[in-house]
Amino acid sequence: MIQRKSAREIEQMHEAGKLVAKIHKEIAKMIKPGMTTLEIDKFAEEYMRKHGAQPAQKGYQGYKYATCASINDEICHGFPRDEKLKEGDLVKVDFVIDLNGALADSAWTHPVGKVSEEAEQLMRVTKESLYKGIEAAKVGNRVGDIGAAIEKYVEPYGYGVVRDFAGHGIGPTIHEEPNIPHFGKPNSGQRLKDGLVITIEPMINTGAWASQMDDNGWTARTVDGSLSCQYEHTIAITKNGVMILTEQDDIE
Ligand code: MF3
Ligand code: CO
Repeated sequence: MIQRKSAREIEQMHEAGKLVAKIHKEIAKMIKPGMTTLEIDKFAEEYMRKHGAQPAQKGYQGYKYATCASINDEICHGFPRDEKLKEGDLVKVDFVIDLNGALADSAWTHPVGKVSEEAEQLMRVTKESLYKGIEAAKVGNRVGDIGAAIEKYVEPYGYGVVRDFAGHGIGPTIHEEPNIPHFGKPNSGQRLKDGLVITIEPMINTGAWASQMDDNGWTARTVDGSLSCQYEHTIAITKNGVMILTEQDDIE
């Protein structure tokens, strides 16, 4: 069953999304060598609670933290930990907040200090691929058009588009139908309808797309040790166009 949201529900998710965006902007300002992802997690959780929101990931399927923090070759679902970040690291911080029952989900890649040119390019291409996916998320298009747009944009760079994790419908719970793969064929899959709220969250590797799971049962990392990057937005597809509910450029 695919849930479609009313304008009012979308507005409430947008309020949640603005708070998510604000937290990412604060993290971007404070992240530096010597800091730990556990400190970032603590900051994010406190910020949420101070603004009347809850960390929706905490307790979700037994997950223990407010955020996921995945470093370098970790693709997603890394645990925040007490290990100092180093100059040149890429940290993917991903979290979902619940503001009065409305959810918003966004992941952002934060560079630690100055990063390599390889990392800069990977970040640029991954972020742009997210926006290519968002452009394809129009009423009347199909789910496959989103993944196809991402794949087509990334392909010339020779990067791997991770296949083991996908975007998803969101609200009332974190993961709802439909599943939104970041690869695929144009004009395939379900039709995108007015009121659909989904995440698009491409994970792109400098090497192969293949991932392997750590022993902790959560953290995925690249099999070849290559660098991985991710940007994610929660978006609402409406007949008046797409709304990016977690957009950082719209807020101060
Ligand atoms: N934003 C993450 C995702 O869509 C949320 C995962 S829930 C967690 O994959 F419990 F794994 F953190
Ligand atoms: Co997500």
